[in-house]
Amino acid sequence: MTKQETYKSILPQIEALMAGETDMIAKMANVAAVLHEAFGFWWTGFYRVEGQQLVLGPFQGPIACTRIPYGKGVCGTALKRAETVIVPNVHEFAGHIACSSASNSEIVVPIMRNKQVIAVLDIDSTDFGTFDETDQLYLEQISQQISVLVI
Ligand code: SME
Repeated sequence: MTKQETYKSILPQIEALMAGETDMIAKMANVAAVLHEAFGFWWTGFYRVEGQQLVLGPFQGPIACTRIPYGKGVCGTALKRAETVIVPNVHEFAGHIACSSASNSEIVVPIMRNKQVIAVLDIDSTDFGTFDETDQLYLEQISQQISVLVI
């Protein structure tokens, strides 16, 4: 299966899991599980915006840093820019926060509500260059579904 086919196959499941659910943490928990299982990523999870920092939310994978300051690391950069950040080689990203030395590439997608970033979806891969515009397209759709209050 291509990655596009995999995303297309999990979208109905994600929509069903989101339907009628208003609790963002519950939605994040199931989305992390679906993505992690479908793609076999190294780390799949969320950080929530709390004041001037990001605080760890639901995730699948090894333990991770609990707090990330605004503008720091890939996650804090996505928060600051309010846009998706794709990093093909995390070792070349100035300020990358290495929660795990096994991670080699990363994508961070902001979750927006009323034009504000309220959380980020962070995915790490042990391969280099795992993420591209296809991931961005689908992950931004999925992030939007987490943000809406009721589908
Ligand atoms: N690498 C991230 C930190 C979070 S962990 O990857 C789970 C960053 O640079 O923001």
